[in-house]
Amino acid sequence: MEFIKVKTYEELSQKAAQIILTQLEKKPNSVLGLATGSTPIGTYDELIKAYTDGKADFSKVRSVNLDEYCGVPETNDQSYRYFMNEHLFDKVNIDKANTNVPSGVAEDSQAECERYDKLIESLGGIDLQILGIGVNGHIGFNEPSDEFSEGTHVVTLDERTRNSNARFFEKMSDVPTKAITMGIGTIMSAEKILLLANGDAKKEIIEKAVYGEITPNVPASILQKHDNLTVIFSEN
Ligand code: F6R
Repeated sequence: MEFIKVKTYEELSQKAAQIILTQLEKKPNSVLGLATGSTPIGTYDELIKAYTDGKADFSKVRSVNLDEYCGVPETNDQSYRYFMNEHLFDKVNIDKANTNVPSGVAEDSQAECERYDKLIESLGGIDLQILGIGVNGHIGFNEPSDEFSEGTHVVTLDERTRNSNARFFEKMSDVPTKAITMGIGTIMSAEKILLLANGDAKKEIIEKAVYGEITPNVPASILQKHDNLTVIFSEN
């Protein structure tokens, strides 16, 4: 594991973007595992900047997102598909047909989970997975639990997660209670993992995840077992 500590969010974003750009130089048709949330926004901004400056090409990139809220259609501005379009896909030359986000409104959510796992398999797995971390140690929406999950599944969101994400919704009752998420097994099978965290609110959990006991109570702690993990933490 490489643990990079930096002072500012700008440095975190620049370093993270550099790692992604290096991956794309090595393999232009990489499968990128992507996250939403506040943490990677600066990284995506850096990628957009690199593209605008003619220093990045996304034309062959394939992507799979970690998760999506259940019951939120992709046209809703709170959906993770909407987020990805707004913060990255609409601003670089990625082919939208090559971008994937699990559907939160599939009639048969079990079938959707199976479809998503098969899709990731058919792409040959994930080359580089970008992760944020929840204040409770979740990755994707794999919440603290008694066991580490394997494949894509539907989860009931932890109250701490709903509280953290309430900032994006008008009122608490609008915050979804369920989500569909890639499983820990799939995340762990990525070739390389880049875990990002910033600010005081994440300081304690990132240290617990990276140096503490490996336990499904802190889902991110499993990442200690990955042999190609880079963690970037910024103080603010
Ligand atoms: C988002 C995701 C979540 C977030 C985590 C941190 O796709 O999978 O695990 O990465 O909740 O969110 P922020 O970055 O908003 O603190």
